[in-house]
Amino acid sequence: MIRDLFRYIATPAPPAQRRLGYLRDSIWLQSRAHRCRAAWAPHLAASRDVMRAAIATRGRRDTVVVLGSGLLADVPLAALTDAFRRVVLVDAVHPLATRRAVRALAQVELLTADLSGAMALLTGHASDLKPCLPPVCAEPGTDLVISANLLSQLPIRPVARLEGGRRAYGPWTPQDGDAFGRRIVEAHLADLARLSAQICLVTDLDETEEDRAGHVVERHDLLYGVALGASDHAWTWELAPFGEIARGRRLLHQVAGFTDWRP
Ligand SMILES: C[S@@+](CC[C@H](N)C(=O)[O-])C[C@H]1O[C@@H](n2cnc3c(N)ncnc32)[C@H](O)[C@@H]1O
Repeated sequence: MIRDLFRYIATPAPPAQRRLGYLRDSIWLQSRAHRCRAAWAPHLAASRDVMRAAIATRGRRDTVVVLGSGLLADVPLAALTDAFRRVVLVDAVHPLATRRAVRALAQVELLTADLSGAMALLTGHASDLKPCLPPVCAEPGTDLVISANLLSQLPIRPVARLEGGRRAYGPWTPQDGDAFGRRIVEAHLADLARLSAQICLVTDLDETEEDRAGHVVERHDLLYGVALGASDHAWTWELAPFGEIARGRRLLHQVAGFTDWRP
């Protein structure tokens, strides 16, 4: 509790990220990652393996961009810094641990940005969703762009804000949550598809809530019905083992990994 409060105060984050809850989410994610470290280890290792496989297929290695770099728990930072001249890490919030990990690495840049395209709309600075990849993704020197367990996260805060309020944001009303979420997922994929760089995409697809007998209690499509096609890697991430959300329930996510994604 005290550590979370310290992190909340000490982590640099723009006002929009604080106001919309992204900083709180980042700190909460760090705490859950620590509590669930044993359950998460296979998922983090599998994610890093997909990214390493993507690095290995690249001939030219000038710049790599990691979208949703967060805690760098599922990102093979050493493999990236060994292979690329320049490593750009992009997230809404860069945790203190990440800032410490890269402080001495001259080739690593931290870029704080909204990748959902929704923050400006939700803070009254835009009239609709906006294109959201930072320009570095489309620079000629950028050879690899990694979307690192980010895609399913992009709609969460914006949809919760839209559905939880009594007002419209641009053309979106509180009843439009699913369509709004789907548009955010589709926009990220469309933005990636336009890039000439190789795209490595790792994302969870759906969430299953199970009881101790293995019965499925609930299931959610995390991508709002958007299909990605057949992945080269697939695994199950035990996001919340028994006891994390309830004594008799656990949450499982299906994850897909693409070393060279194209729609
Ligand atoms: C599940 S975590 C990914 C884990 C991360 N790759 C790691 O290794 O720790 C999702 C990340 O997406 C980031 N994120 C969520 N919404 C975002 C947004 N709109 N713009 C930028 N980053 C966002 C979160 O801050 C978080 O770091």
